[in-house]
Amino acid sequence: MTDRIVRAPIDEAERVRLEQILIESFGADDLAWTTWMERIGHENLRVVVENGAIRGGCGFYPFAQHWGGPPIPMAGFAGVGVAPEARGTGLARTFLVATMREARERGMPLAGLYASSAAVYRSLGFEQAGATIRWSAPIASLPPGDAGLACDAFDPDVDTSLRVLYEARARSWSGHLDRHEPMWQRIARPYKGVARGYRFGSADAPEGYVVYTHDAGENLHFSVVLKDVVLTTPRAAQRLFALLSGLRSLATDVRWLGCASDPLVSLLPEQTAKPIEHSRWMLRILDPVRALSMRGYAREGEARVRVRDSIFGDVALRVLVRGGRAQIERIEDAPLVIDTRALAALYAGVTQPSTLALMGLTEGPASELEALGHLFADREPWLCDWF
Ligand SMILES: CC(C)(COP(=O)(O)OP(=O)(O)OC[C@H]1O[C@@H](n2cnc3c(N)ncnc32)[C@H](O)[C@@H]1OP(=O)(O)O)[C@@H](O)C(=O)NCCC(=O)NCCS
Repeated sequence: MTDRIVRAPIDEAERVRLEQILIESFGADDLAWTTWMERIGHENLRVVVENGAIRGGCGFYPFAQHWGGPPIPMAGFAGVGVAPEARGTGLARTFLVATMREARERGMPLAGLYASSAAVYRSLGFEQAGATIRWSAPIASLPPGDAGLACDAFDPDVDTSLRVLYEARARSWSGHLDRHEPMWQRIARPYKGVARGYRFGSADAPEGYVVYTHDAGENLHFSVVLKDVVLTTPRAAQRLFALLSGLRSLATDVRWLGCASDPLVSLLPEQTAKPIEHSRWMLRILDPVRALSMRGYAREGEARVRVRDSIFGDVALRVLVRGGRAQIERIEDAPLVIDTRALAALYAGVTQPSTLALMGLTEGPASELEALGHLFADREPWLCDWF
């Protein structure tokens, strides 16, 4: 019987050991792991110690995510790695379950992540919750735009005045993060390249902004990588296109992280934006009662469901939604039984209940499943930050 302990690294030597494991796990020698650890917060790193040796670990950002109401605390898992020689022995499961449990006890009803392997996280109750699409469009295919609106450079590392524009959009979409300082730092001081910011409109009444980096190609050519872009008026959108079109003598394409119903894709005159990477981010409902009661709802209705959760225990609930909020009542049992993975997918509003039935994640009357799914059917969630 091996002895396994999960805890924060206690000193610099332990952080260096975790860093070595992450470098090897991600094959990314050039990533600034020390900065990554500082940003996530040393207190939010976890290692698994087996027989006195660190074998793996992860970090979790203490995020909050928008789901139509006040932002809901969410543990954003990142940098999950296990030493190659120790894999396949349940180490990741050990530290991820312990960290999920801790996050739940600390009042985070949700956990989210970008997965390299869906299977690993499905085994822990996560399910795919939204599309993450890296789009690319040739600069030459952008509309010429209109330079009528003021466009001024700003330093995103110093000038924080435009953050309110993102925050307003975040409240109006599902899935956006309530960005905390480390997430803003990822944009202003990216791991790769230099961030350049441009404000559209006057300083008193800004209508949008963009922050981008250059990704060098051959013969002085480069890609423009949008780190953050918020547009609140048609004029701002046209000003963005005028700015980008002005780069076209050397810029080849523009890239950004978006979603399926992506606003920038919709703004293009033709279907010239192509996905260069398409994956799905994942969500875990750590605490169904709190997650359901904190969320906002676009529809009204009632459903009864038993949520099966082999890690945190089953719970049967009556969900009554009126006026955009849900009242949650614990009940004895319900004819509809769904896996916690199905609850995560429904919660995000992207997966049809019938798909979850096909995946074998639900049991019971189809009408009850439809009634539950109806509560969450809303706009596509958009998690526009990578972490
Ligand atoms: C992914 C990784 C952390 C798994 O670590 P591990 O200690 O070997 O995983 P565990 O033994 O605890 O397995 C946990 C579960 O995932 C499954 N699993 C593990 N590795 C898997 C893989 N490569 N593909 C599919 N499933 C896998 C296991 O079967 C197990 O499921 P079960 O509990 O239902 O049996 C490890 O392979 C790694 O460090 N990979 C490189 C970095 C990486 O991809 N990190 C994840 C980034 S999001």
